[in-house]
Amino acid sequence: MLNVSSLSASYGAINAVRGVDLQVSAGSLCVLLGANGAGKSTTLRSIAGLHRPIGGSVKLNDQEISRLSLHRVVKSGLAFVPEGRMVVAPLTVEENLKLSHFSGRSEPSLLDKVYTLFPRLADRRRQLAGLMSGGEQQMLAIGRALMTKPQMLVLDEPSMGLAPAIVDLVFQSIVELHKEGQSILLVEQNAAIALSVCDYGYVMKRGQIVIEGTASVLKENPEVLEAYMS
Ligand SMILES: Nc1ncnc2c1ncn2[C@@H]1O[C@H](COP(=O)(O)OP(=O)(O)O)[C@@H](O)[C@H]1O
Ligand SMILES: [Mg+2]
Repeated sequence: MLNVSSLSASYGAINAVRGVDLQVSAGSLCVLLGANGAGKSTTLRSIAGLHRPIGGSVKLNDQEISRLSLHRVVKSGLAFVPEGRMVVAPLTVEENLKLSHFSGRSEPSLLDKVYTLFPRLADRRRQLAGLMSGGEQQMLAIGRALMTKPQMLVLDEPSMGLAPAIVDLVFQSIVELHKEGQSILLVEQNAAIALSVCDYGYVMKRGQIVIEGTASVLKENPEVLEAYMS
């Protein structure tokens, strides 16, 4: 489904991503782990059309998407929830969700689906997004991505800055989506929670993938345990 090969991306002289290979097969929940500054966000942003890579390819179902505009990437079936969520503060929850209509893939029934997955959003549909808690804004950002009916959902650190109970809630919905067959690529600093729900994981260090394997194997890897689970 998603096939990233030899992806490289830079900021001027800084080579933030150097020859990254990763695959997410249909229906799988995959995590990209790594310390702060490892290049995880740059990898996701390059996959999602927000940062133009300097080399390599990103294919979604055999379509090359790495050099498409953001709009075309969404149309091709990939939705990205960036770090920091980026909901539109002065609009209501429902207006935020309906923004995705402009992508051309949205359907009214999707709104019901999002409200079923996130009952808190249904309760707050007329509330201004900017007045919601961090966890609710994260749910809204994920909900807005789902409104484009993505084949591949890409999430950058959905747990960032959230209280543990809220992190659990957000991860429950990710697990729910996975159960429904949604393909998901997730960046997460919390390796313990990510590896408890994912099928497969990659570990990134200084711009490169240094370890990969099934979640059950990664959970036992001494280097992963020491660096990311302590
Ligand atoms: N806009 C930017 N301009 C210059 N350097 C950047 C920018 N964004 C990230 N970097 C650098 O690229 C590297 C990778 O960053 P990033 O992809 O955000 O890592 P991560 O998401 O794993 O924390 C870091 O060294 C970071 O300082
Ligand atoms: Mg990041």
